[in-house]
Amino acid sequence: MSDLKVAVVGAGLMGADHIIRIENRIVGATVSAIVEPDEGRAKAAMAEAPGATWFPNIEAALASGLVEAVLIATPGQFHEPVLLPAIAAGLPILCEKPLTPDAKSSMEVVQAEIAGGKQLIQVGFMRRFDAGYMQLRQLIESGEQGELLGLHCAHRNPSVPDSYNNDMLVYDSIVHEIDAVRFLTDSPIRSVEIKQMKRNSLSPEGLMEPILALLETESGVLATVEMNVSVQFGYQVKTEAVFQKGIAEIGRTAGMNLFAGGAISTAEHMSFKTRFADAYDSQIQRWVKAVKRGTIDGPSAWDGYLAAAAVEAGLAALHSGNKVVASYESKPAFYK
Ligand SMILES: NC(=O)c1ccc[n+]([C@@H]2O[C@H](COP(=O)([O-])OP(=O)(O)OC[C@H]3O[C@@H](n4cnc5c(N)ncnc54)[C@H](O)[C@@H]3O)[C@@H](O)[C@H]2O)c1
Repeated sequence: MSDLKVAVVGAGLMGADHIIRIENRIVGATVSAIVEPDEGRAKAAMAEAPGATWFPNIEAALASGLVEAVLIATPGQFHEPVLLPAIAAGLPILCEKPLTPDAKSSMEVVQAEIAGGKQLIQVGFMRRFDAGYMQLRQLIESGEQGELLGLHCAHRNPSVPDSYNNDMLVYDSIVHEIDAVRFLTDSPIRSVEIKQMKRNSLSPEGLMEPILALLETESGVLATVEMNVSVQFGYQVKTEAVFQKGIAEIGRTAGMNLFAGGAISTAEHMSFKTRFADAYDSQIQRWVKAVKRGTIDGPSAWDGYLAAAAVEAGLAALHSGNKVVASYESKPAFYK
């Protein structure tokens, strides 16, 4: 079977990483088009994918006949204008998280997919493909350590670009935990409450963080999420699960321990690119295989909508300081 021709839309941090991944590690796919308005980024990306053609917008790429599938890696607020024409063209889509930043636009995307009559969208919640998250989900399901009582999650970035704002703490970052907690517990987020920790004076001007989010699932599990984006020392995503009889921990950095100079040290990740490299590879490889079978193999547009609805509660919680209950539309038969 010939290589799936993928258009990568947005060649920034994540998109450029996916281009390198598809060109070098993924079997059965090639980057045939790069859609990127920034000429410098487009040229850098083209160097990684010599067979690709550069397009300034999605419409031109779709009209070219060079595209069989679309990978969207523009910032979240620019997902919908790419999703809708790609759905209209009937093409399979891997859309980076979040599906869209709010519930209304996510529901519009869901409705467009339903109107097209076929599930085309997989959302890039790649933690579902991470070995640690998969193992923890299995442990929870097995009941081996008794019932799951709570989760402690930490999501720490060394720093963030100037374009990162307070709302992105929730719709761009905590959205990962919103999906992961639902994935682990198999239960939707019932409510969100957010407290400010003492502000880190190293945070960019105007950014009020770190924050502590409390996500309560409909099944009664409480997850604490430390969202902390100016830690300087590294990139960490960790979860500790509290069971009736035991504790499980995932996300501790593996690798060589160096015993020297009166200290023990292990190199820490500095970026999501290395922390989740295997998860991204597995996500994209399974997506490519699924596309060739005419299906998806991962979180759907409906999962994206559920996350967006919980994000909306999270943003209201962030702005008000109150605990906010999430509200969801009922699940369309299309996704059952
Ligand atoms: N899964 C993960 O762990 C993970 C990690 C980082 C980023 N992301 C997601 O990836 C997406 C991109 O994030 P990023 O950090 O790479 O952003 P970025 O700002 O580094 O790059 C975005 C790129 O999209 C381009 N762009 C903007 N509008 C466009 C449009 N309409 N058409 C084509 N290109 C357009 C920009 O010029 C830029 O080059 C976001 O949805 C983000 O949440 C996911």
